[in-house]
Amino acid sequence: MKAIWYDKNGDSSVLQYGDLPTPNPGVGEVLVRLATSGVNPSDWKSRRGSRGMPFPRVTPHSDGAGTIEAVGEGVDRARIGQRVWIWNGQWKRPFGTAAEYIALPAIQAVPLPAITSFEAGACLGIPALTALHALLTDGGVAGQSVLVTGGAGAVGHYAVQFARLLGASRILTTISSEAKAAHALNAGADLAINYRSEDVAERVLAATGGQGVDRMVDLDVGGHAKLLPQLLAPGGLCAAYGSNTPEAGFVFGPSIVRGIAVRFFIVYELNAAQRATAIGALDTWLRAGLVQHAIAARVPLAECRAAHDAVEAGRYMGNLVLDC
Ligand SMILES: NC(=O)c1ccc[n+]([C@@H]2O[C@H](COP(=O)([O-])OP(=O)(O)OC[C@H]3O[C@@H](n4cnc5c(N)ncnc54)[C@H](OP(=O)(O)O)[C@@H]3O)[C@@H](O)[C@H]2O)c1
Repeated sequence: MKAIWYDKNGDSSVLQYGDLPTPNPGVGEVLVRLATSGVNPSDWKSRRGSRGMPFPRVTPHSDGAGTIEAVGEGVDRARIGQRVWIWNGQWKRPFGTAAEYIALPAIQAVPLPAITSFEAGACLGIPALTALHALLTDGGVAGQSVLVTGGAGAVGHYAVQFARLLGASRILTTISSEAKAAHALNAGADLAINYRSEDVAERVLAATGGQGVDRMVDLDVGGHAKLLPQLLAPGGLCAAYGSNTPEAGFVFGPSIVRGIAVRFFIVYELNAAQRATAIGALDTWLRAGLVQHAIAARVPLAECRAAHDAVEAGRYMGNLVLDC
């Protein structure tokens, strides 16, 4: 099969395109013929060495979608021919979705509703589940005010929509341009704040009657740590899934007086119950046609290097998907 791989960490030039053996589904596994593979920031960070080389050869990417072509022992043969989307394709496993085929545990291939395209299916494992868990964790957001930082990003765009679907009372977001503001407002945000040209804390306080928001869905906890006592209402929670810096400096006094909390998480490590809850909610909304997907570009598998460079440079607004 055609596939992408790397045998050492480095810039995108370490990505090779060529032939690798087509895998066979083992016990409890399915073999998926991939239509699409989603590229996420985590993929270039891993390639650059954030996880070292956990295996001698790695085919990148955890997200993807396609059709089950064969099943291993113990898996219902009725699944052959089923359209599926994939989670954790390359988490603690060497061979991810940047290939024509992947063999992986049957539970990691989730039925893809008929009305959901394969390109959308390649955005669910990381962007959609991250957004959803950030909102569902610690009691959810029904009736609450929510601040989604980076509401035009891959995760942020889903988070704005899901906050609305989960009954948030008010959704604020931060963006860096008019086009990104329009993208986030179109997804359901009530107010878009330009974090490069405006005082975010001031605008959030003004928009919430001086209270701050009940929940933050945050992609830059390092940048926002000091501001949390202003941004969050008393007892508010920051669901921190990203950081632009390796460390975050919190201000202890104001944080304890305010009683705020930070929930760090990584989507790869959701437990079975958390993942099932998020997938259940997502599946219902997908079947009802309630989710917008922002596919910024589709690129042939062979052009994976350019795709990694584009995601690393933040060149696109939305998700970048490879055609497998
Ligand atoms: N913990 C997890 O499980 C998990 C899961 C998914 C992603 N992540 C991490 O979360 C981050 C975002 O991922 P993504 O796929 O959504 O990336 P993305 O599509 O590149 O979106 C990031 C967006 O955030 C904006 N941004 C960057 N810094 C910002 C800040 N301080 N305030 C407001 N907006 C900011 C960027 O645009 P401008 O530069 O124009 O503002 C861009 O629109 C990455 O670091 C990724 O590694 C973590």
